[in-house]
Amino acid sequence: MSRLKNKVAIVTGGARGMGAATARLFVAEGARVLISDVLEDDGAKLAAELGDAARFVRHDVSDENAWHATLAQAVDAFGGVDVLVNNAGVLMFKTLAETSKAEFERVIDINLVGCFLGVKIVGQHMLGRRHGSIVNVSSVDGMKGANGLGAYAASKWGIRGLTRVAAMEYGHKGVRVNSIHPGGIDTAMGNPYAEARAELNKRYAMVPLQRVGEPEEVARTSLFLASDESSYLCGAEIAIDGGMLTGQYYVGFPGAPGI
Ligand SMILES: NC(=O)c1ccc[n+]([C@@H]2O[C@H](COP(=O)([O-])OP(=O)(O)OC[C@H]3O[C@@H](n4cnc5c(N)ncnc54)[C@H](O)[C@@H]3O)[C@@H](O)[C@H]2O)c1
Repeated sequence: MSRLKNKVAIVTGGARGMGAATARLFVAEGARVLISDVLEDDGAKLAAELGDAARFVRHDVSDENAWHATLAQAVDAFGGVDVLVNNAGVLMFKTLAETSKAEFERVIDINLVGCFLGVKIVGQHMLGRRHGSIVNVSSVDGMKGANGLGAYAASKWGIRGLTRVAAMEYGHKGVRVNSIHPGGIDTAMGNPYAEARAELNKRYAMVPLQRVGEPEEVARTSLFLASDESSYLCGAEIAIDGGMLTGQYYVGFPGAPGI
Protein backbone atom coordinates (compact mmCIF):
# COMPACT_ATOMS: atom_id res chain seq x y z
CA MET A 1 0.00 0.00 0.00
CA SER A 2 1.61 3.26 -1.03
CA ARG A 3 -1.00 5.95 -1.40
CA LEU A 4 1.23 8.31 0.60
CA LYS A 5 4.58 7.11 -0.68
CA ASN A 6 7.36 9.70 -0.12
CA LYS A 7 5.04 11.97 1.82
CA VAL A 8 5.78 13.45 5.23
CA ALA A 9 2.88 14.22 7.56
CA ILE A 10 2.31 15.89 10.90
CA VAL A 11 -0.73 14.58 12.80
CA THR A 12 -1.63 16.66 15.85
CA GLY A 13 -3.41 14.97 18.73
CA GLY A 14 -1.99 11.79 17.25
CA ALA A 15 -1.33 9.87 20.46
CA ARG A 16 -4.77 8.26 20.65
CA GLY A 17 -8.23 8.16 19.12
CA MET A 18 -8.70 9.10 15.49
CA GLY A 19 -5.30 10.86 15.41
CA ALA A 20 -3.61 7.57 16.29
CA ALA A 21 -5.71 5.71 13.71
CA THR A 22 -4.67 8.33 11.14
CA ALA A 23 -0.97 8.04 12.01
CA ARG A 24 -1.17 4.22 11.76
CA LEU A 25 -2.92 4.31 8.39
CA PHE A 26 -0.59 6.98 6.97
CA VAL A 27 2.46 4.90 7.91
CA ALA A 28 0.83 1.78 6.44
CA GLU A 29 0.36 3.77 3.22
CA GLY A 30 4.03 4.72 2.99
CA ALA A 31 4.17 8.09 4.78
CA ARG A 32 6.59 9.17 7.45
CA VAL A 33 4.65 10.74 10.29
CA LEU A 34 5.44 13.09 13.13
CA ILE A 35 2.89 12.40 15.84
CA SER A 36 2.30 15.44 18.01
CA ASP A 37 0.37 15.51 21.27
CA VAL A 38 0.49 16.50 24.92
CA LEU A 39 0.10 12.83 25.96
CA GLU A 40 3.76 11.85 26.10
CA ASP A 41 3.47 8.19 27.14
CA ASP A 42 0.78 7.29 24.60
CA GLY A 43 2.53 9.24 21.84
CA ALA A 44 5.95 7.70 22.48
CA LYS A 45 4.43 4.21 22.64
CA LEU A 46 2.66 4.64 19.31
CA ALA A 47 5.78 6.02 17.63
CA ALA A 48 7.80 3.04 18.93
CA GLU A 49 5.14 0.65 17.58
CA LEU A 50 5.31 2.28 14.13
CA GLY A 51 9.12 2.13 13.92
CA ASP A 52 11.41 4.28 11.77
CA ALA A 53 8.56 5.87 9.85
CA ALA A 54 7.23 7.64 12.94
CA ARG A 55 8.44 10.01 15.62
CA PHE A 56 6.66 11.61 18.56
CA VAL A 57 6.97 15.17 19.74
CA ARG A 58 5.36 16.76 22.78
CA HIS A 59 3.44 19.65 21.31
CA ASP A 60 0.70 21.81 22.77
CA VAL A 61 -1.09 23.12 19.68
CA SER A 62 -2.10 26.34 21.43
CA ASP A 63 1.60 27.26 21.85
CA GLU A 64 3.00 29.17 18.86
CA ASN A 65 6.66 28.47 19.69
CA ALA A 66 5.91 24.76 20.02
CA TRP A 67 4.51 24.80 16.47
CA HIS A 68 7.82 26.17 15.14
CA ALA A 69 9.72 23.49 17.08
CA THR A 70 7.39 20.75 15.79
CA LEU A 71 7.80 21.83 12.18
CA ALA A 72 11.58 22.00 12.62
CA GLN A 73 11.58 18.49 14.11
CA ALA A 74 9.55 17.10 11.22
CA VAL A 75 11.85 18.68 8.64
CA ASP A 76 14.92 17.54 10.53
CA ALA A 77 13.70 13.95 10.88
CA PHE A 78 12.00 13.42 7.53
CA GLY A 79 12.45 16.44 5.21
CA GLY A 80 9.78 18.84 3.94
CA VAL A 81 6.23 18.43 5.21
CA ASP A 82 3.56 17.51 2.64
CA VAL A 83 0.56 16.87 4.87
CA LEU A 84 -0.81 18.42 8.05
CA VAL A 85 -3.77 16.91 9.90
CA ASN A 86 -5.00 19.43 12.46
CA ASN A 87 -6.71 16.85 14.63
CA ALA A 88 -5.94 17.84 18.25
CA GLY A 89 -8.99 18.91 20.19
CA VAL A 90 -10.85 18.98 23.47
CA LEU A 91 -14.55 18.70 24.26
CA MET A 92 -16.38 20.43 27.10
CA PHE A 93 -20.01 19.77 28.00
CA LYS A 94 -21.46 22.81 29.77
CA THR A 95 -24.39 25.08 29.15
CA LEU A 96 -23.58 28.62 28.08
CA ALA A 97 -24.85 29.90 31.44
CA GLU A 98 -22.37 27.65 33.29
CA THR A 99 -19.39 28.34 31.02
CA SER A 100 -16.82 30.79 32.35
CA LYS A 101 -14.82 33.08 30.05
CA ALA A 102 -11.64 31.15 30.92
CA GLU A 103 -13.29 27.82 30.02
CA PHE A 104 -14.62 29.18 26.74
CA GLU A 105 -11.20 30.60 25.87
CA ARG A 106 -9.43 27.33 26.68
CA VAL A 107 -11.54 25.37 24.20
CA ILE A 108 -11.13 28.08 21.54
CA ASP A 109 -7.39 28.26 22.22
CA ILE A 110 -6.78 24.55 21.66
CA ASN A 111 -9.35 23.77 18.98
CA LEU A 112 -9.41 26.94 16.90
CA VAL A 113 -6.24 28.90 17.67
CA GLY A 114 -4.29 25.62 17.53
CA CYS A 115 -5.70 24.93 14.08
CA PHE A 116 -4.97 28.51 12.96
CA LEU A 117 -1.34 28.23 14.08
CA GLY A 118 -0.90 25.01 12.12
CA VAL A 119 -2.50 26.48 9.02
CA LYS A 120 -0.29 29.55 9.35
CA ILE A 121 3.06 28.05 10.36
CA VAL A 122 3.08 24.72 8.52
CA GLY A 123 1.10 26.41 5.75
CA GLN A 124 3.92 28.93 5.19
CA HIS A 125 6.35 26.04 4.89
CA MET A 126 4.08 24.32 2.35
CA LEU A 127 3.57 27.54 0.38
CA GLY A 128 7.35 27.84 0.13
CA ARG A 129 7.35 24.44 -1.56
CA ARG A 130 4.15 25.28 -3.52
CA HIS A 131 2.74 21.93 -2.52
CA GLY A 132 0.78 20.42 0.35
CA SER A 133 -2.49 19.21 1.80
CA ILE A 134 -4.00 20.38 5.09
CA VAL A 135 -6.87 18.47 6.70
CA ASN A 136 -8.65 20.39 9.44
CA VAL A 137 -10.71 18.25 11.79
CA SER A 138 -13.93 20.10 12.57
CA SER A 139 -17.07 18.21 13.59
CA VAL A 140 -20.75 17.79 12.86
CA ASP A 141 -20.95 20.41 15.61
CA GLY A 142 -19.26 22.79 13.16
CA MET A 143 -22.36 22.46 10.98
CA LYS A 144 -25.21 22.51 13.49
CA GLY A 145 -26.01 23.53 17.04
CA ALA A 146 -25.75 21.18 20.03
CA ASN A 147 -26.91 21.73 23.59
CA GLY A 148 -24.08 21.90 26.11
CA LEU A 149 -21.44 22.43 23.44
CA GLY A 150 -21.31 26.22 23.11
CA ALA A 151 -17.53 26.62 23.26
CA TYR A 152 -16.88 23.42 21.28
CA ALA A 153 -19.38 24.24 18.52
CA ALA A 154 -18.02 27.81 18.27
CA SER A 155 -14.49 26.41 17.86
CA LYS A 156 -15.58 23.87 15.23
CA TRP A 157 -17.63 26.41 13.25
CA GLY A 158 -14.52 28.60 13.41
CA ILE A 159 -12.39 25.82 11.91
CA ARG A 160 -14.85 25.57 9.06
CA GLY A 161 -14.53 29.30 8.28
CA LEU A 162 -10.77 29.22 8.69
CA THR A 163 -10.57 26.31 6.27
CA ARG A 164 -12.50 28.16 3.57
CA VAL A 165 -10.30 31.25 3.89
CA ALA A 166 -7.12 29.13 3.82
CA ALA A 167 -8.43 27.22 0.80
CA MET A 168 -8.84 30.54 -1.03
CA GLU A 169 -5.50 32.00 0.03
CA TYR A 170 -3.45 28.82 -0.41
CA GLY A 171 -5.20 26.92 -3.20
CA HIS A 172 -3.81 29.02 -6.03
CA LYS A 173 -0.33 28.49 -4.58
CA GLY A 174 -0.49 24.70 -4.66
CA VAL A 175 -1.67 23.96 -1.12
CA ARG A 176 -5.08 22.34 -0.71
CA VAL A 177 -7.03 22.86 2.51
CA ASN A 178 -10.16 20.89 3.39
CA SER A 179 -12.17 20.16 6.51
CA ILE A 180 -13.67 16.94 7.78
CA HIS A 181 -16.70 16.75 10.05
CA PRO A 182 -16.84 13.55 12.08
CA GLY A 183 -19.81 12.77 14.28
CA GLY A 184 -20.28 9.96 16.76
CA ILE A 185 -16.90 8.22 16.61
CA ASP A 186 -15.90 5.62 19.21
CA THR A 187 -12.96 7.31 20.94
CA ALA A 188 -12.32 8.60 24.45
CA MET A 189 -14.02 11.82 23.36
CA GLY A 190 -16.95 10.28 21.50
CA ASN A 191 -17.56 7.54 24.08
CA PRO A 192 -16.70 9.23 27.40
CA TYR A 193 -18.48 6.60 29.53
CA ALA A 194 -16.67 3.76 27.71
CA GLU A 195 -20.00 2.14 26.83
CA ALA A 196 -20.07 -1.25 25.14
CA ARG A 197 -20.72 -1.13 21.42
CA ALA A 198 -24.33 -2.34 21.55
CA GLU A 199 -25.21 0.29 24.18
CA LEU A 200 -23.41 3.01 22.31
CA ASN A 201 -25.14 2.19 19.04
CA LYS A 202 -28.52 2.80 20.71
CA ARG A 203 -27.60 6.48 20.99
CA TYR A 204 -27.52 6.58 17.20
CA ALA A 205 -30.89 4.93 16.56
CA MET A 206 -32.11 8.09 14.80
CA VAL A 207 -29.03 8.41 12.57
CA PRO A 208 -29.44 6.75 9.14
CA LEU A 209 -26.62 4.20 9.65
CA GLN A 210 -27.76 3.59 13.28
CA ARG A 211 -24.31 3.00 14.72
CA VAL A 212 -21.25 4.70 16.10
CA GLY A 213 -18.31 5.25 13.73
CA GLU A 214 -14.80 3.81 13.95
CA PRO A 215 -11.69 6.02 14.19
CA GLU A 216 -10.38 4.13 11.14
CA GLU A 217 -13.37 5.31 9.09
CA VAL A 218 -12.30 8.89 9.76
CA ALA A 219 -8.65 8.05 9.09
CA ARG A 220 -9.55 6.71 5.64
CA THR A 221 -11.15 10.03 4.73
CA SER A 222 -8.06 11.94 5.91
CA LEU A 223 -5.96 9.54 3.84
CA PHE A 224 -7.97 10.42 0.74
CA LEU A 225 -7.59 14.16 1.41
CA ALA A 226 -3.88 13.80 2.18
CA SER A 227 -3.19 11.81 -0.98
CA ASP A 228 -3.06 13.01 -4.56
CA GLU A 229 -6.34 11.14 -5.20
CA SER A 230 -8.11 14.25 -3.91
CA SER A 231 -6.11 16.57 -6.19
CA TYR A 232 -9.18 18.63 -7.17
CA LEU A 233 -10.61 19.07 -3.65
CA CYS A 234 -9.97 22.43 -2.01
CA GLY A 235 -12.28 24.00 0.57
CA ALA A 236 -14.42 20.86 0.69
CA GLU A 237 -16.31 19.90 3.85
CA ILE A 238 -16.73 16.16 4.27
CA ALA A 239 -19.04 14.76 6.94
CA ILE A 240 -18.16 11.32 8.34
CA ASP A 241 -21.19 10.89 10.50
CA GLY A 242 -23.31 7.92 9.39
CA GLY A 243 -25.73 10.42 7.87
CA MET A 244 -26.33 12.41 11.09
CA LEU A 245 -26.41 15.73 9.27
CA THR A 246 -28.75 14.68 6.48
CA GLY A 247 -31.94 15.58 8.35
CA GLN A 248 -34.29 14.73 11.17
CA TYR A 249 -36.71 11.80 10.88
CA TYR A 250 -40.45 12.38 11.25
CA VAL A 251 -40.88 9.57 13.77
CA GLY A 252 -43.70 7.18 12.90
CA PHE A 253 -43.99 8.37 9.29
CA PRO A 254 -43.01 6.40 6.17
CA GLY A 255 -39.29 5.89 5.76
CA ALA A 256 -38.41 6.39 9.44
CA PRO A 257 -36.54 3.62 11.32
CA GLY A 258 -38.90 0.90 12.46
CA ILE A 259 -41.62 1.71 9.89
N1 LIG B 1 -15.03 11.36 18.66
C1 LIG B 1 -15.95 12.05 18.02
O1 LIG B 1 -17.12 11.64 17.95
C2 LIG B 1 -15.61 13.35 17.32
C3 LIG B 1 -16.61 13.96 16.56
C4 LIG B 1 -16.33 15.14 15.90
C5 LIG B 1 -15.06 15.67 15.95
N2 LIG B 1 -14.09 15.07 16.69
C6 LIG B 1 -12.77 15.70 16.69
O2 LIG B 1 -11.79 14.76 16.32
C7 LIG B 1 -10.53 15.12 16.87
C8 LIG B 1 -9.93 13.90 17.55
O3 LIG B 1 -10.75 13.54 18.64
P1 LIG B 1 -10.90 12.06 19.21
O4 LIG B 1 -12.32 11.69 19.10
O5 LIG B 1 -9.88 11.17 18.60
O6 LIG B 1 -10.63 12.31 20.76
P2 LIG B 1 -9.37 12.02 21.71
O7 LIG B 1 -9.66 12.77 22.95
O8 LIG B 1 -9.09 10.57 21.78
O9 LIG B 1 -8.14 12.70 20.92
C9 LIG B 1 -7.84 14.06 21.00
C10 LIG B 1 -6.33 14.16 21.10
O10 LIG B 1 -5.99 15.57 21.12
C11 LIG B 1 -4.98 15.72 22.10
N3 LIG B 1 -4.91 17.10 22.61
C12 LIG B 1 -5.76 17.71 23.44
N4 LIG B 1 -5.34 18.94 23.72
C13 LIG B 1 -4.18 19.12 23.03
C14 LIG B 1 -3.26 20.18 22.91
N5 LIG B 1 -3.43 21.34 23.56
N6 LIG B 1 -2.19 20.03 22.09
C15 LIG B 1 -2.00 18.85 21.44
N7 LIG B 1 -2.82 17.80 21.53
C16 LIG B 1 -3.91 17.94 22.32
C17 LIG B 1 -5.36 14.75 23.21
O11 LIG B 1 -4.28 14.50 24.10
C18 LIG B 1 -5.80 13.55 22.40
O12 LIG B 1 -4.72 12.67 22.12
C19 LIG B 1 -10.82 16.29 17.80
O13 LIG B 1 -10.50 17.50 17.15
C20 LIG B 1 -12.31 16.21 18.03
O14 LIG B 1 -12.88 17.45 18.36
C21 LIG B 1 -14.34 13.92 17.39
